[in-house]
Amino acid sequence: MADQNHQVYIAREIVHHYSQLRQLQPAEQTILNLFRNQWSNMKMLDIGVGGGRTTQYFSRIVQEYKGIDYSEEMIAACQQRFRSQSQMFEVVDARDMSQFPDNSFDFILFSFNGIDVVSHCDRLQVLQEISRIGKSGGYFFFSSHSLQGLEREFNWKTHISFNPFKTYVNMIMFTLLRFFNRSISPHQIKSSDYAIVQDESHNFRLKQYYVRPQEQLNQLQSNFDNIRMFSWQSGLELITQQDLSANTDMWLYYLCQIK
Ligand SMILES: C[S@@+](CC[C@H](N)C(=O)[O-])C[C@H]1O[C@@H](n2cnc3c(N)ncnc32)[C@H](O)[C@@H]1O
Repeated sequence: MADQNHQVYIAREIVHHYSQLRQLQPAEQTILNLFRNQWSNMKMLDIGVGGGRTTQYFSRIVQEYKGIDYSEEMIAACQQRFRSQSQMFEVVDARDMSQFPDNSFDFILFSFNGIDVVSHCDRLQVLQEISRIGKSGGYFFFSSHSLQGLEREFNWKTHISFNPFKTYVNMIMFTLLRFFNRSISPHQIKSSDYAIVQDESHNFRLKQYYVRPQEQLNQLQSNFDNIRMFSWQSGLELITQQDLSANTDMWLYYLCQIK
């Protein structure tokens, strides 16, 4: 899984795609506002920095910024994009961040579902590494695909709309999703804590980890505290159980504090 995904992230057209991205996602904007009085004292690590979409917002306001990615090509694109600050970027794999000492960072970001392209075992290793290099009381903010959102995608009935053209396009995408994941049944999606799925991103080339929010909380519990969840689409916090169970976002953002 990890090797196949790495191949995608070194491909020229994919690197180009990420280096063109400019906008913050709504939940990222929420966090930018939430910590507005603290950024200037923070040492930040931006994991899976891609083409530097988030760099332009954060590197200017934090005390120190480092962007890392396991794709050499993504890092080269960042160094090209931020030519005068190329030293901010480094090729590092999140599964082994041994070049960073313990307690190095105040704020660690792993945005836009970068954590979802490694295996289950590697994901736990990444979380372990983050808790090691993050300062106690520091923050980790990341997003991950939601199995709850995917459940809806696996149900053909949810793709019917009043607009016949939209229904047609939805049905094609639904058929492709089911074709690329023919070994996974809707029942399996409903009854699993997590699943590895080839979704439509980058034309079904990536294998991505989708997790049930409760399972994500369980994975975080041993090393992180004060876990909060945000809708990626609205940027609003999911506060009540009702907010969470009604949510069908394809991915959610998690903010937590390192123990
Ligand atoms: C979906 S892209 C997001 C890029 C960027 N953060 C953004 O939001 O535009 C995910 C990024 O995570 C990187 N990535 C995936 N697994 C990684 C790992 N184990 N270590 C470091 N980077 C990783 C990929 O190379 C890719 O650049």
